[in-house]
Amino acid sequence: MWRAKLGGWFYQLIRAFMIRSTFKSQQRAMLPLDLEEVVEKGDRLIKTVQLFFSPVLFSFRIPKSIGVSVYDLYFPSPLVVAAFKDDVQIVGFWMNFGMGGGILKTVMMNPREGNPRPRLQSVEMQGMRGLLNAMGLPGKGVDGLINHIQKSWVSRSKRPIGLSVGGGTVDEYWAVIDRLESGLAHVNFPRFYELNISCPNTEEGQHLIHTPGLFQTLLEGVRQRTSAVVSVKFSPDQPNSQLLVMAENMMAYDRMMINVGNTRLCKCVDVGLATNATSTGEGGYSGEGLFNRTLEMVSLLSPIGLPIMATGGISQPHHVEALIDHGATLLGMATALIENPYGVPIINHRLSLQSKRML
Ligand SMILES: Cc1cc2nc3c(=O)[nH]c(=O)nc-3n(C[C@H](O)[C@H](O)[C@H](O)COP(=O)(O)O)c2cc1C
Repeated sequence: MWRAKLGGWFYQLIRAFMIRSTFKSQQRAMLPLDLEEVVEKGDRLIKTVQLFFSPVLFSFRIPKSIGVSVYDLYFPSPLVVAAFKDDVQIVGFWMNFGMGGGILKTVMMNPREGNPRPRLQSVEMQGMRGLLNAMGLPGKGVDGLINHIQKSWVSRSKRPIGLSVGGGTVDEYWAVIDRLESGLAHVNFPRFYELNISCPNTEEGQHLIHTPGLFQTLLEGVRQRTSAVVSVKFSPDQPNSQLLVMAENMMAYDRMMINVGNTRLCKCVDVGLATNATSTGEGGYSGEGLFNRTLEMVSLLSPIGLPIMATGGISQPHHVEALIDHGATLLGMATALIENPYGVPIINHRLSLQSKRML
């Protein structure tokens, strides 16, 4: 574990340096502070260093005893890269730290620019770190994604890969799934779909939640189109009563999974940022501050009996242990991977110690 601890220390040092120096040059140029520029620089650095040092610096073995199954999908670790990145090279970088599977960023039918920048900022709320993003689902569109997958490691992956689907209308969700089914028909990797019905950063992102009956219509059409496992991503902003009704509706269909949850909609000022820190004045909060709500949602929904992926605020071994104790099978991570991916081998190690103790 010394390699993970030392690696994490260096990673965080380099990340802090990159943030500080980028913000300084943005201030000098009188530009608004924009964390996305740091992400772009970080991605370029990762791709370059990965070419030469990947096995030594960024590759960790997953202990044998910690795998879990959801239907016929086998995840060698319960940790899953949550949907937030569509560059598969960077998703692959995180997978190498010991993630059991990964979900690619939500795709919609056509390429999208997303919201104007700035649309990503760091936040610190009551001592808890996190991010505020108002990305608005930028992406290459479904054909771009299929092309990207066909040419990359994803097409040869042995670990399950989630394809997160979004849509402005129910028809768009169906059309994206139709296109993925036909475009990837001859590409064999274990996969599942995730229906993103909870994005707070697009105008139409949550209409499925707020229009009664539409959710069942969506599920019915999805089930007619694919026999793959389908995960539905709920929002921490949904009231508990609505979560229960939707989860019970899902019981009518085969091979369903619940993912709790997405980011939480906040105004910039609510998280201590200037009103214009994002171009929309708000965004989805992610990070440690979501953890209590994630645990609450898992406890609420686990008695229903569908497999649950818990996503939101997970960064420490004790988060993972508590969520598994309350009924989660898989654990999705986004912000903690950006902040320090070396936490992954540490969590996997802790899980393996626990599983040995239980033998
Ligand atoms: C920059 C960014 C982009 C995201 N994009 C998506 C997305 O495309 N689809 C989606 O379902 N969730 C998206 N999310 C939400 C994450 O998948 C996750 O649910 C959320 O960040 C909570 O987990 P965390 O606290 O581990 O970050 C995004 C999150 C961030 C920070």
